[in-house]
Amino acid sequence: MGAGNLTLIWKGDSLEMIDQRKLPFTQEYVICKDANSTAQAIQDMVIRGAPAIGVAAAYGVLLAAKRYEGDSKDEFLSLVREGVYVLSKSRPTAVNLFWALDRMEKLVDENIAQSIDSIKQILEKEAKKIEQEDISINKAIGQHGREALSKLGKPKLSILTHCNAGALATAGYGTALGVIRSLHEADMIEKVLVDETRPYLQGARLTAWELYQDGIPHWVITDNMAAYFMSRGQVDAVVVGADRVAKNGDSANKIGTLGLSVLAHYYNLPFFIAAPLSTVDFSIEEGSQIPIEQRDEEEVRTVLGTRIIPGYIQVKNPSFDVTSHQNITGIITEKGTVYPPYEKNIANLG
Ligand code: MRU
Repeated sequence: MGAGNLTLIWKGDSLEMIDQRKLPFTQEYVICKDANSTAQAIQDMVIRGAPAIGVAAAYGVLLAAKRYEGDSKDEFLSLVREGVYVLSKSRPTAVNLFWALDRMEKLVDENIAQSIDSIKQILEKEAKKIEQEDISINKAIGQHGREALSKLGKPKLSILTHCNAGALATAGYGTALGVIRSLHEADMIEKVLVDETRPYLQGARLTAWELYQDGIPHWVITDNMAAYFMSRGQVDAVVVGADRVAKNGDSANKIGTLGLSVLAHYYNLPFFIAAPLSTVDFSIEEGSQIPIEQRDEEEVRTVLGTRIIPGYIQVKNPSFDVTSHQNITGIITEKGTVYPPYEKNIANLG
């Protein structure tokens, strides 16, 4: 799962994605040929992870454009805009989705006088650019993260991570896992503690799969074991990704991240967010403004399709939580690691 990977492959007329719901047991692919099926794949978690959702959405807009075969500019534009709308409704929290849609839509507006074929070509170039940029951004995040964590002064580190912020969650290499990959390349990883990440098990199924393939030493732990290992000095730092970062540094990430940040604070451990600047929502002041996705309750009542809680029992399934900027040691971006005061220092980067 190095820089190039199978998260998504543009086939010229369709988008092929590895079905992340089936990993690591089977490698199956889902092929999307239009914006609706791409939006459905995002909603159903075939593809997930903030940057990967953004890249898939960009290709979804391109598919909306490519599906049109007539010669009416008005019809073409309304189909593309309908595609943007459907994609914007797929998932609410990861801001990269809206960032990518805005970027594609803006390009349509700027080139509205061009022929339909030219607009299709421009959109194709842009979607590919968004994908390629994401890989180089993640490499830069990896490099900056390595520098930030080197300052802890230990030759080898044990890093705890949550969910999957790896190659599968991006166009390649990963954000939080990009930092871990970069540390591993410098022989600085003692081990990675991988939170299993209920209910969807992104850690146990996806992060462990990526680390295994790269030969990076790791242990999968259940979500309630972090304090145990922290209290015994077996964690040097926590590094996670983000789905949306507010102007003041408050960061939404997979449910359970907030609890980890509180634990890290208690045990005086550094807690880093690794995310591209496309994850920063410059339109919101603080984390309370971030919309939190509430997913299907059946995800909590079942584990990999096996029912563990009867249907008549009430459950809750918030998919993300917000970590206060006060609990964050630094936010690792492609332009460097940002430290408090975030309000001022994030604005300087953006
Ligand atoms: O629900 P998911 O799997 O899309 O949630 C993903 C996360 O929370 C990731 O940590 C985040 O998107 C960063 S991915 C580089």
